[in-house]
Amino acid sequence: MAEAHKAVSGTWATRWTFILAATGSAVGLGNIWKFPYITGEYGGGAFVLVYLACIAVVGIPIMMSEVLIGRHARRNPINAMGDLAVESGSTRAWSLVGWMGVLAGFLILSFYSVIAGWALNYTADIGMGLFNGVNAKQTGEMFGDLTSNPGRLIFWHSLFMILTAIIIARGIHKGLENSVRIMMPALFVLLLVMVGYSITSTDKFGEGLKFLFAFDFSKLTGEAILVAMGHAFFTLSLGMGAIMTYGAYMPKQASIGGTVLTIAVLDTLVALVAGMAIFPIVFANGLEAGAGPGLLFVSLPQAFGSMAGGQIFGTIFFLLVSIAALSSAISLIEPAVAYIVQQHNVSRLTATICFSLIVWLLGLGTVFSFNIWSEVKLFDKNFFDLLDFLTANIMLPLGGLLISIFAGWILKRSVVLNELAMQNLVRFNTWRAAARVLSPLAVLVIFVTTLYKAFS
Ligand code: PFF
Repeated sequence: MAEAHKAVSGTWATRWTFILAATGSAVGLGNIWKFPYITGEYGGGAFVLVYLACIAVVGIPIMMSEVLIGRHARRNPINAMGDLAVESGSTRAWSLVGWMGVLAGFLILSFYSVIAGWALNYTADIGMGLFNGVNAKQTGEMFGDLTSNPGRLIFWHSLFMILTAIIIARGIHKGLENSVRIMMPALFVLLLVMVGYSITSTDKFGEGLKFLFAFDFSKLTGEAILVAMGHAFFTLSLGMGAIMTYGAYMPKQASIGGTVLTIAVLDTLVALVAGMAIFPIVFANGLEAGAGPGLLFVSLPQAFGSMAGGQIFGTIFFLLVSIAALSSAISLIEPAVAYIVQQHNVSRLTATICFSLIVWLLGLGTVFSFNIWSEVKLFDKNFFDLLDFLTANIMLPLGGLLISIFAGWILKRSVVLNELAMQNLVRFNTWRAAARVLSPLAVLVIFVTTLYKAFS
């Protein structure tokens, strides 16, 4: 049996803390902001079905692989992949997967922070009553006012990056655990309140459900399938080492399979409930389902503006969205910080400040892509769209593919069996078949067919 590695940065207090932190990473803007708007853009039900299939066939097995690699190595993804590869008789070049993950984390956080800044801005604006009594047209204009103003965007983006840096600098215990324990359940309850509003105050709940769950396969393009798969990675925080880093802090006795399943189910539930809250309001107000990134920020504020107690509910809602974003943001930068601290003995504070500055600077590209650079395009995509596409649809699936191959083919069977500690061999073999063949194949087929179509 391979010898156990020592934990470098401590471990979570319990299995539940790991579940909370990983769920905190998974549940974020991806569920509440991105899932509804891309579902709207790519036509609804059939897209949702492909996304759910990807969660089950690709997401869950790869998340198990990430956790087991992290927990076995007990270090950051760069060293974890490199060290375990050498230990297994392979090449240290596997650490490149960790490097790609660190890069993906920087790129994602740079735009994630700008969007999270919108949520902060809405928390303040709704709190001050600016949305009381507004109609759908006005919320559209107010959203336009925000995105066309670089100064305002930079202010909120900066504030969000500062909050992220403060939590990261304080370390995994004080910073992360406390923020997810109460906030996540509260967010879920408020989403249910919004579903209640959609059912009672609009007569479009059925239409919303139909849009989400009726499969119209004629709308399913190759790009839609790629985006659905990419989103499965994005929403579960996979393919870049975030979950691997958290896995490195996971207590030894906790079961990986059960834990991962819990996280995936919670994450998926939040996304579907967000969709059920948003689409009825979209249809009831004649808004465009394919309106793009502004969908959440145009649909819900209108509802808050017209419902009883909306000023309070709305403020709490966007505050919770901001917190959900924060608990995801920290997991985007933690792998890089963990690497520098563990490998190069730099203090956590210095590492955090340097990385946050780099990410903040990159974020300006996204800020400008909504205004002064909106016409600067490559492959018909502005800076923000390009970053989003490159990270979610290319880098994360590629990282996930390699991680799956690593866990399935490079790591010794005995090491994996010991780490997963599954009593039931059928379950173990199912995971192994998925990790070795099914998940990599699914990612490859989707990659090859879409890219082939794009360039032919
Ligand atoms: N899963 C987060 C969300 O859905 O908002 C985003 C994210 C976090 C992606 C961490 C990737 C990651 F490593």
